[in-house]
Amino acid sequence: KSAPSIPKENFSCLTRLDHNRACSQVAMRCGISANSVKNMIIWGNHSSTQYPDIHHCKVNVQGKDVTAFDAVKDDAWLKGEFISTVQRRGAAVIKARKLSSAMSAAKAICDHMRDIWTGTTEGEFISMGVYSTGNPYGVPEDLIYSFPVSIKDKAWKIVDGLAINDFSKAKMDATAAELVEERDTAVSFLGSTAVT
Ligand SMILES: *[C@@H]1O[C@H](CO)[C@@H](O)[C@H](O)[C@H]1NC(C)=O
Ligand SMILES: *[C@@H]1O[C@H](CO)[C@@H](O)[C@H](O)[C@H]1NC(C)=O
Repeated sequence: KSAPSIPKENFSCLTRLDHNRACSQVAMRCGISANSVKNMIIWGNHSSTQYPDIHHCKVNVQGKDVTAFDAVKDDAWLKGEFISTVQRRGAAVIKARKLSSAMSAAKAICDHMRDIWTGTTEGEFISMGVYSTGNPYGVPEDLIYSFPVSIKDKAWKIVDGLAINDFSKAKMDATAAELVEERDTAVSFLGSTAVT
């Protein structure tokens, strides 16, 4: 809104660190490497309300793609501790290091930029915060919200048609509510500047 000459699609925000953390949590549980975990999704804000969603995740176990539920074989962990560990990882790193993450954040920035540059593999997607207007999941408009995206010819596209169950919907709504609040606060500042 403050930089109308720059196309909206030229802005993206980093949720790849959260995405990578979610992949590595699943990989560690399965005793495989994180690059064998694909199609993870981080929905929403880069904060503790983010929702790491494993419902569309594919895990390559001994050359075969299986769901995260089949690979991990612990639904209670996937629906509980897995989510809270990823949500709180940023705070946990700060507590342990007295500093925020450095190398893993740098790696995530490289992954984010590389995928914009080279595109994502056909049939695969990654997580990235992009503007929500016109999104197919009913997320409120005018937010920068993390979605599953595929990238081709340096242009991102929100992956459409993924089934969302009630469990996921509630968590997507909660993180959206946080961003709506933040958006409205920011816009109210813009308004008062215009008046004075
Ligand atoms: C927006 O992104 C496109 C594609 O990467 C680029 O060609 C264009 O220069 C960018 N526009 C601005 C104003 O930064
Ligand atoms: C959204 O996440 C950012 C980055 O962690 C944080 O600064 C911001 O406070 C969060 N929004 C709200 C409303 O909590």
